[in-house]
Amino acid sequence: MNSHNTLICVIGGAGYIGSHMVALLQANGYSVVVIDDLSTGFLTSIPKVLFEQGSILDKEFLADFFTRYNIGAVFHFASSIQVGESVSNPRKYYKNNLIGTISLLDQMVESKVSKLIFSSTAAIFGSPDYTPIDELHPRRPLSPYGRSKLFVEEILADYETAYNLRSVSLRYFNAAGASPCGQLGERHFPETHLIPLLLQCAANRSPSFSIFGNDYDTADGTCVRDYIHVEDLCRAHLLSLSYLDKDNPSAAFNLGTGVGHSVSEVVSAVEDVTRSKLNIQIKPRRPGDPASLVADGKKANLALGWMPTRVDLKEIIAHAWAWEQKHPWI
Ligand code: UFG
Repeated sequence: MNSHNTLICVIGGAGYIGSHMVALLQANGYSVVVIDDLSTGFLTSIPKVLFEQGSILDKEFLADFFTRYNIGAVFHFASSIQVGESVSNPRKYYKNNLIGTISLLDQMVESKVSKLIFSSTAAIFGSPDYTPIDELHPRRPLSPYGRSKLFVEEILADYETAYNLRSVSLRYFNAAGASPCGQLGERHFPETHLIPLLLQCAANRSPSFSIFGNDYDTADGTCVRDYIHVEDLCRAHLLSLSYLDKDNPSAAFNLGTGVGHSVSEVVSAVEDVTRSKLNIQIKPRRPGDPASLVADGKKANLALGWMPTRVDLKEIIAHAWAWEQKHPWI
């Protein structure tokens, strides 16, 4: 069934990527209801939309929600996302990302909701054997965070076979940027991500920035990542919904631009965009950081017709910078 005629549920719609997704769904004529427990998301980030505060770990809340709303498809963004924290506190990751998601899947089966777009991650691959990383690359996550996402991907295959719950797992590489209109952007507490931390430094909200390791086996010794604009990521979700609407089987796609940038390159790009000279320090490597993660997006291009459109790193940073300057209180 065409999802335009149904209500779309966005779980984690108060978060960074989820809030951009809600805006894109609405701009494309979809009716949306957001679930968020507001543990890390912000009420002010949610565009004007139906909203229910609650947790996917709360089975009574979920049962009540799916009884009250006739949902056609679920976008599931809610999860704990810090790789380092997942190593020191794996319980939190298996509880929120694994048990929470199983609880959601079970309620979807119960309520006969059969389409899911799931937020997965490049962290399922661990240290790559080769780049760009395609979907055939072995999956050997290095952290409980990556494992929690990989386990869900595997569970989803079983749920399709047994219950006909079809899903698309989207493995984000490094989500970055903000909506060009400046209304939505990245906001984490505590912030651990490269670009927002650099921008906070450029805005004089922190005195210095630390590069975690300059002795990697990369061109300049710093880690290489594939920074993908948040709006390009969200378009891939929209196309994934159309893919499921056409009765296609479950699938998983790697989402990135196919081009890697080193941490030092990102620092220079931020200095250019913000016209500032940052106080940069070199610190030891951060545990669990692979040297290089770059996506091969061909499968998503072939199956979904997806192609990233905002691939210029400085444009991505400029959007994030506009958001940062508009929201100095964050
Ligand atoms: N970095 C620094 N200093 C900092 C912060 C980051 O040098 O203060 C470096 C990191 O070492 C890494 C790069 O900048 O090399 C990017 O780091 P981020 O923390 O911004 O992003 P990650 O690549 O660690 O993680 C992101 C998502 C995760 C996801 C992962 C998949 O945030 O949720 O990509 O690889 F699991």
